[in-house]
Amino acid sequence: MPSPYSVAVVVGSLRNNGFSLRTAQTLAKLAPDTLKLDIVTLEGLSFYNQDLEANAPSDWVAFRDKIKVADAVLFVTPEYNRSIPGVLKNAIDVGSRPYGKSAFDKKPAGVVSISIGAVGGFGANHHLRQCLTFLNMPTLQQPEAYVGMIGDAFDDKGDMVKDATKGFLKTYIDAFATFVAQQHK
Ligand SMILES: Cc1cc2nc3c(=O)[nH]c(=O)nc-3n(C[C@H](O)[C@H](O)[C@H](O)COP(=O)(O)O)c2cc1C
Repeated sequence: MPSPYSVAVVVGSLRNNGFSLRTAQTLAKLAPDTLKLDIVTLEGLSFYNQDLEANAPSDWVAFRDKIKVADAVLFVTPEYNRSIPGVLKNAIDVGSRPYGKSAFDKKPAGVVSISIGAVGGFGANHHLRQCLTFLNMPTLQQPEAYVGMIGDAFDDKGDMVKDATKGFLKTYIDAFATFVAQQHK
């Protein structure tokens, strides 16, 4: 079998055992063997400041390298005030620079938004998609992943216990695997 495509899974929440992280971990478990998912947390990633670019902080370099080596990027994010959390926007800004050397350029992307509410992070999902357009990232369109009512989807060990949500995430990650393979043909 050819080696699997590597996927950097960028998690948009810093929370220990947050629902976004747990969802990312669930997707990693459900992924077909054509994909290898590596979770990228944004802990310790400092604020973007163009003044520092001449001697970029090591945490920026490390983040950019994790994206550069990946064959695809999967974003798993909560919604904050109907948009993406600031830490995720900062990561996008860090990865997109220096100008002309964006780590994200042309990488196939997927977007999974999660929420404890019913709307499933629709606002975050589409604000993120706006960034991905500018970042020149071909993005899986269907199925869309607005994962709502996530608050009771995991047990104490972090395992997904909601069959409907688990089934949907399996459908999603299989579709993403097909999409990534198509993009790399
Ligand atoms: C600052 C802040 C803003 C939030 N805004 C929204 C929102 O606009 N829509 C929503 O569905 N949930 C919102 N929430 C609730 C999040 O869905 C919930 O905190 C979720 O657990 C965050 O994901 P995490 O568990 O991965 O950290 C907000 C939470 C915080 C802390």
